[in-house]
Amino acid sequence: MVVVALWLVSLLAIAIVNTAAQGVLDKDLDYLLLGLKKNKYEVWEDGRRTPIQYGPNATFFEWWYFDAVADDGTTIVFGIYTADPYGTNRPVVNIQITNPDGKTVGLQQPFPFSAGSWEKSHANARVGANYFRSTGGLDTYQLYCDPASMNGFGLNVTLKANLPSWRPATGYSGLSVAAAYFAWFVAVPEGGVTGTFTLPGGIQKSFKGTGYHDHNWGDVNLALLLSHWWWGRGKANGKVLIGAYLTGSVFSGYLKGPLMYIADVDTKKILVSEYGNDNIDVTLSPPIPHPDPLYPRKTIGGGIKFTSSSGYAVMMNSGSPLLDSRDYSNTIPGILAIIGLDKLLDLHPWYTRFASQPTLKYPNGTTTSGVGTLEYYELVCIHSFVDFQIFTRLMADGGVLRFVARG
Ligand SMILES: *[C@@H]1O[C@H](CO)[C@@H](O)[C@H](O)[C@H]1NC(C)=O
Ligand SMILES: *[C@@H]1O[C@H](CO)[C@@H](O)[C@H](O)[C@H]1NC(C)=O
Ligand SMILES: *[C@@H]1O[C@H](CO)[C@@H](O)[C@H](O)[C@H]1NC(C)=O
Repeated sequence: MVVVALWLVSLLAIAIVNTAAQGVLDKDLDYLLLGLKKNKYEVWEDGRRTPIQYGPNATFFEWWYFDAVADDGTTIVFGIYTADPYGTNRPVVNIQITNPDGKTVGLQQPFPFSAGSWEKSHANARVGANYFRSTGGLDTYQLYCDPASMNGFGLNVTLKANLPSWRPATGYSGLSVAAAYFAWFVAVPEGGVTGTFTLPGGIQKSFKGTGYHDHNWGDVNLALLLSHWWWGRGKANGKVLIGAYLTGSVFSGYLKGPLMYIADVDTKKILVSEYGNDNIDVTLSPPIPHPDPLYPRKTIGGGIKFTSSSGYAVMMNSGSPLLDSRDYSNTIPGILAIIGLDKLLDLHPWYTRFASQPTLKYPNGTTTSGVGTLEYYELVCIHSFVDFQIFTRLMADGGVLRFVARG
């Protein structure tokens, strides 16, 4: 019965979402309502975007994310989150340090609501003594992870952008800028990183390498809006590569959003800045065994290939080494748990991240490869209710319901 009700809701949602068939809100009205300019990026866009003052259990979330690879192969991921898991209103600081041999250590630490402070005019997310702060517009950032409050894990680096910020259209995906949305702003597609990091025991090491910073926010549980996404980034032959492929949930009408960005670090020229099914062709590689025995399904997609209308292609492979594999059961929307659908559908949200060796193919056919990462985030990963999944895929691929909605 409940499942039937879900289909009915989906009919409605699909009818609405067909106005955003490219997966990203890109109408003039969307820009106007958001106060955004086309191809021009302002410092406030990296400031706090969701309401700052709100009580516990608010429906908003927001995070500032950074990752970097040092010349010796050390990888650091650092992020500050306003609320994690969703709906708790408990700010979180996350740091993961992967040494050149592939071993990852780190901490994801929740703090009380009162420990967070934020600014709207520019990025300045502070949780306790930890911060993610713009010190020079969208060009320079200072990131600090305080070993005293993070079990000995520390970071103190400067990120200096080598490329201007980027977002696909408004950066908003979802039903409308005022309704359920998920937004994305790539403040620093690539930049130089210098500074230090600290390991438990007070071991301090210097860090010099290349990094990335983006910023996400939204006003609805992501799992209600999205089914899963692929996201990867990397660098090959001096070209910065970003590719993402979002697949919406039943509630968003199975919105699909491929995104692709390629820029040349030396000339600062953007070679590809595209979004939407009309402009980007996406091919998924055949599944491979998932390296984590705890993963609820045996296999995972072997990679993803994005081809732009201008003839550039980026192939990102999953496989090895595995950088992160996490059970995200705590992100299952509360409403599904209350009505028992989580058990019925055997939901298994999961997050997987691989080191990747992306390949870039130029329109003239020349191919070059580099280094990067690729993640697969399954927000509503359905394990055993096979029929539900087949039905979902069918509709996602232009099946029955979409046909009905398009009438
Ligand atoms: C917020 O959620 C928690 C956990 O579900 C609950 O215990 C608490 O009462 C809620 N607070 C408010 C203000 O609704
Ligand atoms: C962080 O590094 C900067 C230099 O890059 C330095 O001025 C500052 O004192 C450092 N902060 C701490 C807490 O060590
Ligand atoms: C193809 O294009 C790339 C990028 O412009 C260039 O570096 C390469 O030399 C070209 N290859 C050939 C065979 O022309």
